[in-house]
Amino acid sequence: MTQRETDLRAQLAAGEVPAHVGIIMDGNGRWAELRGLPRLEGHRVGSESVRAITTAAREVGVKALTLYAFSAQNWARPGDEVEGLMELLRLYLLQERPTVMENGIRLRAVGDLDALPAGVREVLNDLARDSSANDGMILTLALSYGGREELVHAARRIAEDVAAGRLRPADVDAEAFASRLHSAALPDLDLCIRTSGELRVSNFLPWQIAYAEILVTEALWPEFREEAFFSALLDYRKRERRFGLTGAQVRGTIG
Ligand code: IPE
Ligand code: IPE
Ligand code: MG
Repeated sequence: MTQRETDLRAQLAAGEVPAHVGIIMDGNGRWAELRGLPRLEGHRVGSESVRAITTAAREVGVKALTLYAFSAQNWARPGDEVEGLMELLRLYLLQERPTVMENGIRLRAVGDLDALPAGVREVLNDLARDSSANDGMILTLALSYGGREELVHAARRIAEDVAAGRLRPADVDAEAFASRLHSAALPDLDLCIRTSGELRVSNFLPWQIAYAEILVTEALWPEFREEAFFSALLDYRKRERRFGLTGAQVRGTIG
């Protein structure tokens, strides 16, 4: 552990950390291309970052970590890249089992999971089931996930419930809507990190991101490790979250 990492850890231990952190893990392909390596090698090293960040998040007391691992739109990538990613995902789920269980992590997934290859679905379901009683940290993988797709699905469920007389139009409120999302169990995001410098959210959790603090780092995902993560958590602490109020209201200096 570097001196800087030790210092950051000590600072983190002394105050608030965001309860729910979401990460758009981007830049694997560029990381590999910059080194003249196949893109898949970037995804492989990226899975090592997943391991490092998951353990680090658990250690510093993050309650929920949601990782954007594969979007609904990523299916349109070249077939060999998609296949390679699915195999890496399967291996990750197999290899991570001990870490997940030893650290009391509860693993879940959100997205169109039926679209995943059976081999991936199986190991995913096994680990989700076996870790379901763990109460250390909830690790959610957004897989085959698309925010718009999810919103449309929820709207359809609302329409069906109204048409069947189970729900009155006047009762369609934020709560009724949120409860029909695939990601209904996920709380609002407090901090959303995106690696690789891109200033966009790429269809990630539109409902939960509404009031998230956003942090974009130039680091590419395979090189995003503990030190960068801890710096991001400390940066979050400096933010003033106002939720539409004035600064004075939030600081309690006026009613
Ligand atoms: C993120 O890295 C991983 C996935 C989207 C699956 P990319 O593969 O998007 O890497 P870049 O953006 O091409 O560098
Ligand atoms: C977002 O990255 C999806 C994941 C990190 C899984 P992309 O690389 O797919 O996003 P765009 O295409 O640059 O918006
Ligand atoms: Mg990308």
